[in-house]
Amino acid sequence: MNTRIGIIGTGVMGTAHAETISAHTARTEIVAICDPDESRAANVASRVNCPNVYTDPFELIGRADVDAVLVASPDETHFELASACIKAGKPVLCEKPLATNAVDCMRLVELGAATGRELVQVGFMRRFDPLYAELKEAFAKGVIGKALIVRCVHRNAVAPWFFVPGMSILNAMVHEIDICRWLLGTEFRRIRIDRIPEAKSDDPILATLETTAGGVVSIEVFMNAGYGYDIRTEIVGQEGVLVMGHPPMGSLVSTSAGYLPFPSDFRVRFADAYRIQFQAWIDAVVAGINVGASAWDGFVASFVAEAGLRSFTSGGWEEIVLPERISSTGVQKAAL
Ligand SMILES: NC(=O)c1ccc[n+]([C@@H]2O[C@H](COP(=O)([O-])OP(=O)(O)OC[C@H]3O[C@@H](n4cnc5c(N)ncnc54)[C@H](O)[C@@H]3O)[C@@H](O)[C@H]2O)c1
Repeated sequence: MNTRIGIIGTGVMGTAHAETISAHTARTEIVAICDPDESRAANVASRVNCPNVYTDPFELIGRADVDAVLVASPDETHFELASACIKAGKPVLCEKPLATNAVDCMRLVELGAATGRELVQVGFMRRFDPLYAELKEAFAKGVIGKALIVRCVHRNAVAPWFFVPGMSILNAMVHEIDICRWLLGTEFRRIRIDRIPEAKSDDPILATLETTAGGVVSIEVFMNAGYGYDIRTEIVGQEGVLVMGHPPMGSLVSTSAGYLPFPSDFRVRFADAYRIQFQAWIDAVVAGINVGASAWDGFVASFVAEAGLRSFTSGGWEEIVLPERISSTGVQKAAL
């Protein structure tokens, strides 16, 4: 039997996700779609052969024939909607960030733990990206030894319309925080975010994080870089270097006129990651397990990002002291 999905939010992400699920996710059907903008929801529904359109997300969550829910509405709706899914006992793939603040993320972790099931997966789709998977595999094999420095570059051509100051950290940098934890298998000890004197507010920014394993991670986030969507990660180890997404040597990389072709946005760069993420999520829902970033991972990303935001204001280092890990089976010792 197919897993029946309800999709909440039909903006940029929800529309792309509906199309990806409809075209590429096996053993699945989209049975309900919701957006307060009914015509937008209806338009997407007709394109993916979905019979039911809602303007109230709670009605969609309550439908008996919705087995699992994808939340792709704005950040500030995630807490309420993910809570409703957990209370209804329905698996939910919630777009990142899990909530707008770490306290609400922790409330979701606790709510999930009380059910004894891991119902939440956070949309950190990079964990399913083939290039990141290669990087993780090579690093885990020990080909470069211990990680000393990780360099991450996160550039968008233009920030999404809803971006306000702070979101380059709380909404965008959370991707880098999560993927570095996942790649390295370590937590962070402290964070400092430097302002760029010439920059407007928090774009671009440069973050430095120390890992609990003694390495340093540097993250640039530049949401209005102009020339395209450009994501790079480099792990410098004791015995070599692993590089993902670097331009060919000697090239002029770019202005908005462009020397090298960069995708215009994340939907192109991460098309495979989204496709693989949804199939993995559906298969996990059927198997009753969790394969992606859990509610706890969503909490940690937001907890570290909030420390980053404090550093952006204070200009100094902010310590990161995580609480004891809580999983769906209760309190556990911290582990990734
Ligand atoms: N994983 C990724 O790579 C990635 C990339 C971009 C955005 N996102 C996340 O996806 C989410 C959506 O971003 P977007 O760019 O699609 O935004 P968007 O503004 O394009 O779309 C949001 C949609 O949600 C609808 N909406 C608003 N309130 C709602 C509610 N209460 N219930 C149902 N629908 C509601 C809006 O009408 C709109 O259609 C954000 O949380 C964002 O952080 C993730």
